[in-house]
Amino acid sequence: MKVRIAPSLLAADFARLADAVRMAEEAGADLVHVDVMDGHFVPNLTIGPPVVAALRKATRLPLDVHLMIERPEATLPRYLDSGADWISVHVEATSHLHRCLDTIRRGGAKGGAVINPGTPVAALDAILGDLDYAVVMSVNPGAGGQAFIPGSVAKVQSLARAGAASGRPVAIEVDGGVDAGNAGALCAAGAEILVAGTAVYGEADVKAAVARLRAAAAGVRA
Ligand code: DX5
Ligand code: ZN
Repeated sequence: MKVRIAPSLLAADFARLADAVRMAEEAGADLVHVDVMDGHFVPNLTIGPPVVAALRKATRLPLDVHLMIERPEATLPRYLDSGADWISVHVEATSHLHRCLDTIRRGGAKGGAVINPGTPVAALDAILGDLDYAVVMSVNPGAGGQAFIPGSVAKVQSLARAGAASGRPVAIEVDGGVDAGNAGALCAAGAEILVAGTAVYGEADVKAAVARLRAAAAGVRA
C-alpha cells in the first residue's frame, strides 16, 4: 500500500502560501492539506474559497480540503468551484452527511468524512460505502502543533477492520500531531494518508521532513 503524505498548510507561513506549496511539491508530497475553520465549529478562523482557488492555481498537487465548518452543505459548492480535489466534512458538523458526500462526489471531488477524537468509529458505519476516504482526527480540531492522542491508533485499526468487513475498504487519513514517531504505528494499523503540519513546516528542511515521514510510515529509519 502506498502511503500518501499530505503537508498541512496550517503550519506554513500564511503570507507565503505559494512558497509553501512549492516546497511540498519539491519534497515529493502527494497532497496539500488545507484547513478551513469557520470560528464556529472550531474557535479559530482560517481561509475560505478564494484562497483555495488561489492555491489551486499555485500547484499541480491535489488539494485536500478539510472543512472544520458548521453546516458544510451550505457552502460546499463554493469549495468545489474553487478547485478542491478532495473535500472532507465532519460528522459532528452536519445533519446531512450523506447529502454532503453526494454533493462532493457529484461535483467531481473525492469525498471524505472526519471523526473527532470523541466520536466513535461506528459513526461512520452507515456511510462506509459512500466514502472515498475517512479521516481520524488524532487531536481535537482547531489548531496545529498539538500532541498526538495515542488512542487514535486503535481507532484507525478498528476503522480498517470495519471497512474490510463491509467489503468496501476505505482509505484512512490521520490528521493531527502526526510525526515520524507515530507514522509507523499508524500505517501498520491501516492508515494510508498522513497529514502533517508541524512535522513538515516546523522543520528547517521540508524535503528531509517529508522523507523522514515516508520512511517512518514504511517502518524504516530515515
Ligand atoms: C487541526 C488540523 C490539522 C493540523 C495538523 O485542526 O486539522 O490539519 O493542522 O497540524 P499538526 O501536524 O501540527 O498537528
Ligand atoms: Zn486538517
